[in-house]
Amino acid sequence: MDSNISSKCSKLVVAAIDIGTAYSGYAFSFQSTWNKVMTPFWQVRQSITNKTPTCLLLRKDYSVVLFGYEAEDEYSYIKEDNKHEDYYFFQGFKVILHEESVNRHMLCQAHDGRSLEASVVFMHCIRYLKSHFYAKLQTACIDIKDDDIQYVLTVPATWGDKAKVFMREAAIEAGIKNEHLIIALEPEAASIYCQYLHIAKEDTSSAVLGVVKPGTKFMVVDLGTPLSSSDTAHITVHQKSADSNSEKILMASWGPWGGKSVNDMFMTFLTELVGERVIKDFKEECMEGYLDMTRYFEAKKRKANSYRDGSTSIPIPMPFIHLCEKLHNVIDFREVIDKNELHRNNVKYTAGKLKWENKYFRGFFKKTIDSIVKHIDELFEEDVGRDVDIIVMVGGLSECHLVQDAIKKNFEQKTVIVPEEAGLAVVKGAVYLGHLSDDIPRTTLS
Ligand SMILES: Nc1ncnc2c1ncn2[C@@H]1O[C@H](COP(=O)(O)OP(=O)(O)OP(=O)(O)O)[C@@H](O)[C@H]1O
Ligand SMILES: [Mg+2]
Repeated sequence: MDSNISSKCSKLVVAAIDIGTAYSGYAFSFQSTWNKVMTPFWQVRQSITNKTPTCLLLRKDYSVVLFGYEAEDEYSYIKEDNKHEDYYFFQGFKVILHEESVNRHMLCQAHDGRSLEASVVFMHCIRYLKSHFYAKLQTACIDIKDDDIQYVLTVPATWGDKAKVFMREAAIEAGIKNEHLIIALEPEAASIYCQYLHIAKEDTSSAVLGVVKPGTKFMVVDLGTPLSSSDTAHITVHQKSADSNSEKILMASWGPWGGKSVNDMFMTFLTELVGERVIKDFKEECMEGYLDMTRYFEAKKRKANSYRDGSTSIPIPMPFIHLCEKLHNVIDFREVIDKNELHRNNVKYTAGKLKWENKYFRGFFKKTIDSIVKHIDELFEEDVGRDVDIIVMVGGLSECHLVQDAIKKNFEQKTVIVPEEAGLAVVKGAVYLGHLSDDIPRTTLS
């Protein structure tokens, strides 16, 4: 394949939608400049990210439909105003599609325990992302009709055919025409991204996989956001056929060791520090503050590295401090720390922030990293992993230097490749696929 390859897509634009367990997004590029894949920026307080949380806020009469940070923020306000009875708020619902019995009538449970048909929930997510994309085109004064757009929707490799049909139907309900839609496997899109990145972008700064030779086996480790032990497949072993005409996924494996488990360690720490009651009441009474705290942690988590000395601190909302003082019956929050035998030497409270030595803060990642390493190690022991020499890391947590360093150190004898924007590999790879699918082998499950 030469480096001047052009799009084979007959449509003017390819847009890919990736609904993740914790974060979702879309990406798109034009036929004439297919390699310049763009993603929107999602604003969260003072920062921006290129994906937005997978959560949906629906007013019961469907007059309000919000997704991502906007949905989280709005839900925190309406909860504080006690108006949440009129709304459904959904989070972490992607996992339900792993069930064998996926069907149109299965239910997603909202935050307050009420349920709604999953097909309606997914339809609104897709419709929201589609409209956001369309609005973005219009803001840029680009006059494109829906018939000029090729959509690609990604699904995990472990999903059965029923779940793929379910997603296709949800997309059609959301207004995407069946003939304008390609369903791609997430590891397939990630693999295409890593193999064609150097063709799409000649100035890549990170290592690239490049189009693999016939017969080559490689492992795609997608470190996203599993929420439970029954969650998504994240490690897949791929092999290009001898004639390079096809690529097969030989094995798909999963486990509860994604980015969410790092956040869980942080919440466990806080719970051990102040007690379950404070966390529960704070979440109930001041959801906005709770959200702020988790977002502060998220921002610091994304900056963690293996080498920097010093400390990491996270602002703690004043309502949290006051609640804690009230429930512990103390006048100064620092007393809560001083009385805590488990953590009094691990954390300090100064200038409205909790502060950890970086060495301790890195501990929040340890269990997750150890589990990832152990699992990859076990896969190399299995027949399917024995002659795999290349590990490709994608997904949000693969952008974390702590995780990258651990994989490189533990698998020194392998070639470890982390493409640039590893967290966007699936959604950007899905855009490549939309442009190149006539030219490149589609990946199938063996
Ligand atoms: N730079 C970063 N450093 C550390 N962690 C990161 C970084 N960027 C994203 N993450 C983490 O990666 C996780 C999200 O990854 P990703 O967006 O790939 O998941 P997802 O697509 O929602 O999940 P899945 O593919 O499992 O459905 C989150 O836990 C997030 O905190
Ligand atoms: Mg993902």
